[in-house]
Amino acid sequence: MRQPLVAGNWKMNGSLASVRELLAGIKAGIDTVKVAEVAVCPPAVYIPEAQAQLAGTAIAWGGQDLSVHDSGAYTGEIAGPMLRDFDCKYVIIGHSERRTYHGESDELVARKFEAARRNGLVPIFCIGETLEERESGVTEEVVARQVDAVIDHCGVEMLGEGVIAYEPVWAIGTGKTATPEQAQEVHAFIRSRIAEKNATVAEGLRILYGGSMKPGNAAELLAKPDIDGGLIGGASLKAEDFLGICTAANG
Ligand code: PGA
Repeated sequence: MRQPLVAGNWKMNGSLASVRELLAGIKAGIDTVKVAEVAVCPPAVYIPEAQAQLAGTAIAWGGQDLSVHDSGAYTGEIAGPMLRDFDCKYVIIGHSERRTYHGESDELVARKFEAARRNGLVPIFCIGETLEERESGVTEEVVARQVDAVIDHCGVEMLGEGVIAYEPVWAIGTGKTATPEQAQEVHAFIRSRIAEKNATVAEGLRILYGGSMKPGNAAELLAKPDIDGGLIGGASLKAEDFLGICTAANG
């Protein structure tokens, strides 16, 4: 059985005061979460605060991006060893906002996957199609291309050491969630694509759904056989909503 993972992607939100409050709120309610593993990915400057508050709890933390390099003259970048220094377990890579606003290619994301593993971090590897791609019927082609880039660069066994987050771009921050059936269909496709290379890896790999997931729609999404958790943006910024999604996995 794959243990569900619910991870909060806080994006570029919060202040030291609000981060402290949010961490305290999640910590206070974490005992109600029986089944899912829980993680939060704050903006990088707040990672030390997450470490200070969450060390010794059941909640893991991680970064939202990392450099392909481990150190050097790369102004503004954050390296894998730095995330490890603050005991990050996870790092989000290839989020559609980074692909769109920072021009990250499939190849660069694959190198980031490798950089994460080289540093003992578990990549939360984001993939997903735009509305235009869905409407032109190429959803499977797009997610296959994104997954294949990591398999080609890192090998399928290394892919199996990460987590995939399927996030249809048209559902991110828009309030438009994929229906459980739409999401399940793509999740099953992703798993079958990986199974062509290695059935054991495909069976063990967690595939999260992301895109306007909320306490009100989480249970039906998480009930689908190939949906193994969620990557939560907007709803992860309120402790009550985030915990509501985490407990939806209790069944
Ligand atoms: P959302 O974001 O939950 O606000 O749609 C999800 C994500 O971008 O990871």
